[in-house]
Order: sequence, then structure tokens, then C-alpha cells
Amino acid sequence: MLAISGGTPVRSKAFPAWPIRDQSDEEAVAQAVRSGVWGLGGKCKPEFEAKFAELQAAKHCVVACNGTVTLQMALTALGVGPGDEVIIPAYTFIATAAAVFHTGAVPVIVDIDPETYCIDPQAVEAAITDRTACIVPVHVAGNPCDMDAICEIAARHHLPVLEDAAQAHGAQWNGRGVGAIGDIGSFSFQSSKNLACGEGGALVTNNDFLANLVRAYADCGRFDGEGGPRQVLGWDFRMTEMQAALLLSQLKRLLAQAAQRDTNGLYLAERLQNISGIKPAKRDSRVTRHAYHLFMFSVDESVWGVSTRVFMEALRAEGIPCSAGYVPLYRTAGFVAYGQSCPSAWSGIADQLTKVDYGRMYLPVTEAACRNTVWLAQRLLLGSQADMDDIATAVEKLWHERAALQKVRPSTGGLGYEGL
Ligand SMILES: Cc1ncc(COP(=O)(O)O)c(C=O)c1O
Repeated sequence: MLAISGGTPVRSKAFPAWPIRDQSDEEAVAQAVRSGVWGLGGKCKPEFEAKFAELQAAKHCVVACNGTVTLQMALTALGVGPGDEVIIPAYTFIATAAAVFHTGAVPVIVDIDPETYCIDPQAVEAAITDRTACIVPVHVAGNPCDMDAICEIAARHHLPVLEDAAQAHGAQWNGRGVGAIGDIGSFSFQSSKNLACGEGGALVTNNDFLANLVRAYADCGRFDGEGGPRQVLGWDFRMTEMQAALLLSQLKRLLAQAAQRDTNGLYLAERLQNISGIKPAKRDSRVTRHAYHLFMFSVDESVWGVSTRVFMEALRAEGIPCSAGYVPLYRTAGFVAYGQSCPSAWSGIADQLTKVDYGRMYLPVTEAACRNTVWLAQRLLLGSQADMDDIATAVEKLWHERAALQKVRPSTGGLGYEGL
């Protein structure tokens, strides 16, 4: 009997909790505290920057206080501003769009590839106008976008590429770390991320000019550290030494965790794809390491005869935490309201800005993805192969008992982000 109807759940054991931490993390932060150097002039930030740049195969890394302002700084460094258009995917976190708005530019939202959930390169090319100033592929779920196609289109149109790699620590496209495949790439270290310190962000790039500029932007406009001249108008988006100390400590586990997520992700995809109407997100053959910030799969509601919502509620009852994921970016309430107005700072040139009525947008692939996709959080993939078997067994159980499942009514209220 289905657990949602009172039967025994497939699983009652918890999956690994996130963040994974022990005394070494406490000691790393305590040492930073004891050093008395909590901000400028500390050792942890430069050490972490060097290690993270190496991990992503980039020449430079510049850390900051979160992965939203890193996007904003990168766009500004690329010269994006009022009157410009920036191409972003519809299936992403709101920060990708918010950062564009905060530069005064307009996000031009395009559809995703139905199999990988990543930005569709053909849609990117179709959206390019003479106002386009940047392309922002998002390695959503930690799954690298088709960087060959995107970089080729960008080069042909002389456009820069900013990779939103907030979810893709350690991910590799064709053997190359993501982030510095385009001109510059942005990461987040917010609590749920595969490398976390509470809040934090980083930019990676091979471009000396961009690296210097974003470092100055993050540090009140200084080009040469404490007391240096302020030659550009910057922000204080600096990270503290305590955060960098925690990142250094967490970084020691990242590669082993990445390997485990990758192995488990491949195994789980193998098992789930044999179940009717279940389709794990595609991993391009050129993806050499998927970060699996999320494991995503779709449910074909016409094959199952149940809504994805009921499917998820029943899966949770079987002991598998899961979430519904994004709504189409253009439908986010705050975004629609903001998009219809014009940031006050730019109102003087309002008539020159591209107008997009986000409320009327409808991108079919994103719409379907938002309706029928199930998210499993990265921490589940840090379990054992037997844990992956439990996930597959729970989905198989729902399939075998789908006649009963079809009679289950969805609960009211939001589903929330369970397990993230
Ligand atoms: C795709 C994407 N971009 C940007 C961000 C913003 O990062 P942060 O939360 O560190 O500001 C996130 C974080 O959730 C994200 O998932």
C-alpha cells in the first residue's frame, strides 16, 4: 500500500544532512577569529582564491559576499548598462535576472533545451539584437550548458559570455572546469550549494583586465588593496576571513563529494530511465563532470495518469525528499512588477529601454519543465548506492501502484523546497 494512503514507506532512514561538517571546520573558523584579521589583509581569502581558480582551471578568482552581486559586478565589468539587453534562460533562479536589472539592462528571457534544461543555443541566437550586450548561460543543477555552441555564437556576434555557475562547483565541460570557458563565470557559496560557507560568491576568469576590475568593484573601487586609490565606483561586496576559512576547510572535501555525486547521479539516472514515463535530465556526452547540485527528472503525466504534484507528495511519503523546482522566471511576481516599471535611476532614459511584457511571455519548454520536473537535492547523492536503490524502488512502487495513486487528491498549500 502507498505510504501516502497509510502503507509502510520504502524508506524511513534519513539521507545525509547538509552541510557536512566536523571539528576541522570549527577549528578553521576559530583560527581566523583568533588571528584578529577578520577582513582586509587576511591570508584565507587569497589562499582560497588560488585554490578555487585552480579547481575551475581559471587564471583568476575573486571572492565576494554572495553569488548575486558577483553576477552584477561581472555584467558591469563587461560594460553592460542601461539600454542593453542580456540573454538569460527562463529556467533559473531569480538572481540571474535580478543582477541584470540592477545594472539597468533588460533581461531577454529565452527557452531551454527540453532534455538538458540548459539554455537553448538556437534560442540564444534568435534573440540577439543590436542591443544585446551579453549572453548568460546558467549551468542549472550543475549540468554544464553546451559551451561549444554558446561560445561559437558569441564569437560570431562579438558578444561576451558570463557563465552563471552558481550551482556548478567542480563541473567540467569537455575536461575543462566551467566558469572560465566564457569570458567570466560566477559561483555561489550560499548554504545549500555544493561548496558552502553560509553566504558567499566568486568570479573566475582568464582575463586580467576583468579580474582587476571586479576585484576593485568588490573592494570600494580600490585597485591595489588597502588604502589604494579609488579609481572606479565600486561597492563593498567583500567576503570576510571567517567565510574564506570555512570555504578552505570545506574545499578539502569537494572533489571526493563531487565524485560521489557524479557516480550516484549516473547510477540513479540508469535506474530511473527504465521506469515508464520517468526521464532523468540529459547529460551531454561532452559533460566530463556533472556537479549534480540537483538531480532532476520529469514525470510524463499522460503516461502515469497522475499530476507531478501528487507524484511528489507520494514520493515524499515513501521517505524520499523532493521538490517541484522553479516557476518560469518571467512569471515570478516580483520580477513581473519590476520588469513593468523602470529602475528609478534610469527613468530619464526610459523611452530608450527595451520594453518586455514579461506577464505575457510563454516559453513552452520551460512551462513543461516547471510543470513536470522533480528535484532531488545534492545531499541525497552523497548517500550510498543502496540509498539510490531506495529512490528508484520508491518510484517503481508508485508506478506499480499507480491505479491507487490516481485516486489520491493533492493537498492544498505550497510544496516548499523539501530537502534542499
Ligand atoms: C543559478 C543561480 N544564480 C545565482 C544565484 C545567487 O547566488 P546567491 O544566493 O549566493 O546570491 C543562485 C543561488 O541560489 C543560483 O542558483
